[in-house]
Amino acid sequence: MAEHLSQSELDYPFKLLEYFNGFRVSKVIFSACELGVFDLLTTSPCALSAQQVAQSLHASVDGTERLLDALVGIKILHVELQDGTALYSSTDVASVYLAKSGAKSLHDMALYQSQTIYPLWNNLADAVREGKNQNRKTFGIPPEEVFQAIYRSEEEMLKFMGLMDSSWVLDGHDVVTAFCLDGFRNIVDFGGDFFHGELPAADLYVLARILHDWSEDKCLTLLKRIYDICKPGGGVLLVEAMLLESRRGPIQAQLFSLNMLVQAEGRERPPSEYTGMLRRSGFRDVQLCRTGKSYDAILARR
Ligand SMILES: C[S@@+](CC[C@H](N)C(=O)[O-])C[C@H]1O[C@@H](n2cnc3c(N)ncnc32)[C@H](O)[C@@H]1O
Repeated sequence: MAEHLSQSELDYPFKLLEYFNGFRVSKVIFSACELGVFDLLTTSPCALSAQQVAQSLHASVDGTERLLDALVGIKILHVELQDGTALYSSTDVASVYLAKSGAKSLHDMALYQSQTIYPLWNNLADAVREGKNQNRKTFGIPPEEVFQAIYRSEEEMLKFMGLMDSSWVLDGHDVVTAFCLDGFRNIVDFGGDFFHGELPAADLYVLARILHDWSEDKCLTLLKRIYDICKPGGGVLLVEAMLLESRRGPIQAQLFSLNMLVQAEGRERPPSEYTGMLRRSGFRDVQLCRTGKSYDAILARR
C-alpha cells in the first residue's frame, strides 16, 4: 500500500486499473446476491466451507470457492482456517445490507442493478452518441416509452419497485426530515397519470425521483399542473440527487445522470435548474437541503 501511495499513477496506473475492475467487483457482489450466498451465511449458525456453500446453493465447488475468496478480498465476507479448511462467514455489512432479510436490505437494489441496469449500461457508448436511452437496443422497446420499458413485465415491475423501496431504507429519513413539514396536512404521492389525468387536491405534493426521469419541458408541464391545483401556502417537495452547481460532483449524481441518459429521458440537475424550473412554474420560497447522502430535498411553496 505504501508503495502504491509513493508511486505516481504515471509509473503504474493503480487507480485506473481499479476503475477498470469496478464492474467485476459489482458483479461479484450482485452474483452472490443472486445465488443467495449472503442469505445462507447470515442464517447459518456457523461458518461454512466452500463445499458446504456450493452444496446448499446447487453450484460448482470451484466457482463458489473463487466467488467466496473474491468476497473476502473485498472485505464483504470473513474467512478463518480450521484444520486447513477455509470457513466463510458474513460480515455485519453483508448481513445488514446484502441478505434479503437484512435490517436495511439492498438485495433488491443489487438484483435490479445486475439484471436491468447492467445490460443498459452495456450500450452506454451508443447512448452518448445518440443522446437517448437504450431501451430499444437492450429490451426492444421504443425510447419514448420509458415506463413501458421499466414495467415491461410483472417481474420487472416488482424488481423496479424493490429497487425504489430499498433506497428509501437508506435515504427516506433524511429527505422527509430535511424541512419542517408540520403545516402540511394532506400529502400526495402520485398514482394516476400526472401528465394528463386530474390531480388530487393536497397541501403538499411529493415528487421523489420524478423530475430526473424527464426533459425540462415535461418537468415544467408537470410543475405547472401541480402549481395550478396547489392551494396558496401549499407546496411541492422534490427529492433528487442534486449535482453541485459546478456539475463537478458528487460522482454518484454524475453517474445517476448517465443512468437517466441510458434508461429514461431526463438527467440529474444542479440546484439552479430546480430553482429555475420551480420559479418558472410559479412557485416561490425555494429551499434546498443537501443531505450528504444519495438523495437531497427541495421544498417550494405556492
Ligand atoms: C424513479 S420512480 C420514483 C418512484 C417513487 N416516487 C420513489 O421515489 O420511490 C418514477 C415513478 O414515476 C412514475 N410515473 C412515470 N410516469 C408517470 C405518469 N405519467 N403519471 C404518474 N406516475 C408516473 C413511475 O410509475 C415511477 O413510480
